[in-house]
Amino acid sequence: MAEFPGIRIADLAKELTMTNAELVTQLRDLGVESTGPNALVDNDTANSIRGLFGKSATPGKVAEVTGEATVKDLAAAMGIQPNAAVKKLMEMGQLIAANQRLPRPLAERLAGAYGYTLHVKAVEKPIVAPPAQKHKAPSGTAQVRPPVVTIMGHVDHGKTTLLDTIRKTSVVEGEFGGITQHIGAYQIEVDHNNEKRKITFLDTPGHKAFTKMRARGASVTDIVILVVAADDGIMPQTVEAIQHAQAAKVPIIVAINKMDKPDAKPDRIKQQLTEHNLVVEEYGGDVIAVPVSAKTGEGVNNLLDYILLVADVTELRAVSSGHATGTIVEAKTEPGRGPVATVLVQSGTLQVGDSVVAGVVYGKVRAMTNDRGERMQKAGPATPVEVIGLNAAPDAGDTVQAVKNDKEARALGESRQVRARNSRLEGTIKRVTLADIARKVSEGVVKDLNVIVKGDVQGSVEAVVGELNNLEENKTESEVRLMVKLSGVGSITETDVDLAAATNSLLIGFNVKADAGAMRAAERSGVEIRLYNIIYDLTADVEKAMKGMLTPIYEESPLGKAEVRQGFRTPKGITIAGSYVTEGKLVRGAEVRLRRGKDLLYTGKIDTLRRIKDDVREVAQGFECGLTLADFNEAYEPGDIVECYEMKQVQRA
Ligand code: GTP
Ligand code: MG
Repeated sequence: MAEFPGIRIADLAKELTMTNAELVTQLRDLGVESTGPNALVDNDTANSIRGLFGKSATPGKVAEVTGEATVKDLAAAMGIQPNAAVKKLMEMGQLIAANQRLPRPLAERLAGAYGYTLHVKAVEKPIVAPPAQKHKAPSGTAQVRPPVVTIMGHVDHGKTTLLDTIRKTSVVEGEFGGITQHIGAYQIEVDHNNEKRKITFLDTPGHKAFTKMRARGASVTDIVILVVAADDGIMPQTVEAIQHAQAAKVPIIVAINKMDKPDAKPDRIKQQLTEHNLVVEEYGGDVIAVPVSAKTGEGVNNLLDYILLVADVTELRAVSSGHATGTIVEAKTEPGRGPVATVLVQSGTLQVGDSVVAGVVYGKVRAMTNDRGERMQKAGPATPVEVIGLNAAPDAGDTVQAVKNDKEARALGESRQVRARNSRLEGTIKRVTLADIARKVSEGVVKDLNVIVKGDVQGSVEAVVGELNNLEENKTESEVRLMVKLSGVGSITETDVDLAAATNSLLIGFNVKADAGAMRAAERSGVEIRLYNIIYDLTADVEKAMKGMLTPIYEESPLGKAEVRQGFRTPKGITIAGSYVTEGKLVRGAEVRLRRGKDLLYTGKIDTLRRIKDDVREVAQGFECGLTLADFNEAYEPGDIVECYEMKQVQRA
């Protein structure tokens, strides 16, 4: 059994909890040039690196794996080829594929067969105490903090107008001349009983945002403002909002809106409310109903006073010292700025330079801005801030924690990724393919479509992200929410696939290829990689998926393969692949993939197909042909493989 001559860069980096890039830099310092995460470092070098980072060379022979390992994981831990391990298992009478999980006793036997003792690391040390308590224990008492308010209600009842009006009436707004930006939350300051008081509004109205956060275990809202149009009454979404708020046990203040309208009937609303267990004071209950006009601003100050009254009754307090914890309100990836997350700090103080982890993503707070676009150095409880510096866009509702240092943030984020990956291996794998998403949308099961975008240059990445954001902004209510989790320049790598898997994203490549490691990882984790050269095709596909229109589902069925013997270029710049059909047949108009070595270069369609000088519909095995691929005009190289397949409709499961 040949021993692996070393360890992969990516594995060693993981072992030492550093990034691939950091390790590559370290290696370079040692005079070792390496090509990428899959490159091998010989054992001696690996050991000296381990020594440098305080980890001694493997004592005795211990194979360390995380959680329930696959054959491959264990093989890597022992520095042997996965195939060798599979063979060994076969010798032991066990037929287990490299990507399958190994039951513990079998893992021990396999390790034993190579003279190793198995050591299973726990997947993650769960953080029992929130960091705020774990690190700088807050000795100070909890102080009064501003209330966090969410506005809900039926379509067109005036939620957005009310949020806007509140914003304009706030004291702070006047001082700063109203230069605002939408960060998903904002804070205002009002005079209340001769005192300046702050109120935080979540600017992502709608039950979806509220419930999504709750579904993720986040409770950020202290008070719900239920907007009901006085001229319209209780409508289906009003009822829904009431149910959501009541389920979350959040106090409700009813804003009876559009009081300026001649046909406003506030009394009718109050009556209707009783039918939903919201009994206003006049009827002997304790629900506050405030008549307002979001349009004229009438009654709005009154509403703000009531918010503070309810806040005082509920005694909202938080400790402002120590490491911050909070919740992601909203996150996106912006061209030029990278992942941008709106964080609502809930306890402690978030500071520029803090190392943070949010769900599976991590990073450092590089800069913070408030809703008025001002730079912030610190943000205390109930303060919403926009943070840049995370390695990907987290999900709304993810908990944010400031931790001791970068290393801890990264370790936490990565171990959560591993855990997510393991749960996928355990059969709970969620396939993230456009067709799958479309099907789920049409069944009403899926609500989010996450994507990671890679492009050839910054300009094209920005264009693609821009187009996708447009789709999201112009979608209708029933469509899924599209979210660009991460975008970047360069070909699609294994790391991208891992991030896609961890964040349930689809990987979209624009004018780029996917490398071999990425292809393997994608197959393993069920992540779909879609490559495009035309932005319109890309947006059309995504839009269809959002509308649930890519159904019925199709499955790939292979037609044939050809090998490129020679590439040509016509005077007009069109490239032709002189090819030989090695298997099955090639069909004009059929789907193809172009592979070079282990890289995937293109997915698309056969545009033209020629035998000798004639256009033909098909070319069978054993024949030569010339072909062009739709919108692909790069040079072909001898040995490139053209894989031809069709998409066959399959019965829904
Ligand atoms: P969705 O976001 O679609 O759910 O609607 P919304 O609840 O945010 O309602 P929005 O604030 O967009 O208001 C809907 C319409 O009602 C707009 O045309 C507003 O100008 C109008 N409107 C909102 N508040 C008032 C009000 O107090 N009085 C009058 N007369 N019109 C109002
Ligand atoms: Mg609105």
